[in-house]
Amino acid sequence: MFAITPGGFSLDGRPLRLLSGALHYFRVLPEQWPHRLRMLRAMGLNTVETYVPWNLHEPRPGEYDFTGIADLDRFLHATREAGLHAIVRPSPYICAEWDNGGLPWWLLADPEVRALRCRDAGYLAHVDRWYDRLVPLLVPHQSTQGGNVLMVQVENEYGSFGTDIGYLEHLASGLRSRGIDVPLFTSDGPDDFFLTGGALPGTLATVNFGSRAGEAFASLSRLRPGDPPMCMEFWCGWFDHWGSDRVVRAPQDAAEALAGVLDAGASVNVYMAHGGTNFSTWAGANTADPATGEGYLATVTSYDYDAPIDERGGVTEKFHAFRKVLERYADGALPEPEPSGPLLPAGRVSLTESLRLFDTLDALAGPEVEAPLPPSFEDLGIGHGLVLYTGHVPGPRQPYPLSVQGLADRAHVYIDGAPVGVLERDATEVVPDVPVPGAGARVELLVESMGRINYGTGLGERKGVRRVLHTQQVLHGWRARAVELGHGTPGRLRWGAGPSGRGPLFLRGYLDVAEPGDAYLALPGGRKGYVWVNGFCLGRYWVSRGPQRTLYLPWPLLRAGRNEVVVLELDADAGAVPLAVETRDTPDLG
Ligand code: GLA
Repeated sequence: MFAITPGGFSLDGRPLRLLSGALHYFRVLPEQWPHRLRMLRAMGLNTVETYVPWNLHEPRPGEYDFTGIADLDRFLHATREAGLHAIVRPSPYICAEWDNGGLPWWLLADPEVRALRCRDAGYLAHVDRWYDRLVPLLVPHQSTQGGNVLMVQVENEYGSFGTDIGYLEHLASGLRSRGIDVPLFTSDGPDDFFLTGGALPGTLATVNFGSRAGEAFASLSRLRPGDPPMCMEFWCGWFDHWGSDRVVRAPQDAAEALAGVLDAGASVNVYMAHGGTNFSTWAGANTADPATGEGYLATVTSYDYDAPIDERGGVTEKFHAFRKVLERYADGALPEPEPSGPLLPAGRVSLTESLRLFDTLDALAGPEVEAPLPPSFEDLGIGHGLVLYTGHVPGPRQPYPLSVQGLADRAHVYIDGAPVGVLERDATEVVPDVPVPGAGARVELLVESMGRINYGTGLGERKGVRRVLHTQQVLHGWRARAVELGHGTPGRLRWGAGPSGRGPLFLRGYLDVAEPGDAYLALPGGRKGYVWVNGFCLGRYWVSRGPQRTLYLPWPLLRAGRNEVVVLELDADAGAVPLAVETRDTPDLG
């Protein structure tokens, strides 16, 4: 039996120090889970920790997915087969640089949901329904039932957000009543306000930090005397935002900080041991100010995290430095690290076919919706992708600025079909001069969502645009068409030449391989868009912004022979488009 003791933890009566590493199954293809889990062992870890993203598993209310990359049951079996204990942090909210912190977008479309992450009746009704589905899947994996799950988290860093302890109690009793009988815990920053807002009486409190273990544990023991020291998120690296410099942490510095945690007698969860990838449209976003929710910053596709096990499962200098530290606490000799999958030879896939988005709109978009003001993505029933808003400016009139309010997140603007600019949230929100010399002009905004904020008061945002103005005048009367982007989008395209000659461009080519292998894809000439391989969406690229400039292509997506590569270049109006996709053997993350 697993138990919390005054100094730490015990298993079947013997002391157990949790040497854990975070690995999110939803960021790694299932075929690669066993390798990555063995790599955790080889680094010297005895436990793996994962979140559970509600929005991945319940894409629409009452529609559940636990298959493929969402096969949580299979993942938990794999953790056990790899000889690891497991810690599960099951949502509803997970943060994790994941769209909306794991909360489904459709919560924002339900008028009964008035607030998130508190005892709002509409919100809790959905959470309870989700727990009815999720918790029975976790129950048999608990160590009390012969499985390897030792502990389960309640919410996530709630002290960074709110003070509704009754909400945490509701979640804890929801876990308990559905059969969770291993210890429950919370995790929070070590400052007083985090811990006094986020810890739940009667439940283990743990702390999250990247350095200064002594101070963090002193704060924990002052505010939560009796709780043994555990760092639930030891931040050994960090994630990146589009348009910002890459963040890295020196291996030696990280290893010394890790040693500091362990020298304090604490247990640890290395966040991330292996980061993986924010495939498709799952990357979240932050704000420069988590209190006001202002200063939108979208997270990149790679979740390499500068972690010890890199995005494609390879060892790094940090891996070796951590192994040296962890080795001191191991029971016996550590297994050797194993090579990750084979690499494709460097090559070039010509993109020979092309198709304008506007010429395949009927095949891709939902029905046209009319409304006085632009409806949100959520109103239109999609999570991510593009919405084309079409409106009208009366004339004749002089040139006035055209501006947007509540843009989320980026818009290509067309006047009578001609591109006049690209607007960006919190950056460029005005086209300076839009003349309307005739009886009126058609205004089109093609709005892209870039990931929902996953941390702070900006959580729970809607995508789209709230208002469009010409000078001070609000433009009324909009038609909207929604194009959901994600896995499977290329299967809906109708290839063939079209008349539009403007707007985003789909491009297609074929990657021939003798045998599947990993690659990093570069898009020379590309600016911003999405890439699919055999229908699987690798995620967003933004070569003109960086810092990330290649996309990880994992081998399980390929088959021997011909593989379809589809690119959507959003900024095709700017001139150059990618003419080829290159397969490379090294990543360019900035
Ligand atoms: C917090 C959250 C995690 C993650 C990290 C940063 O600690 O709990 O989910 O967002 O920050 O990577």
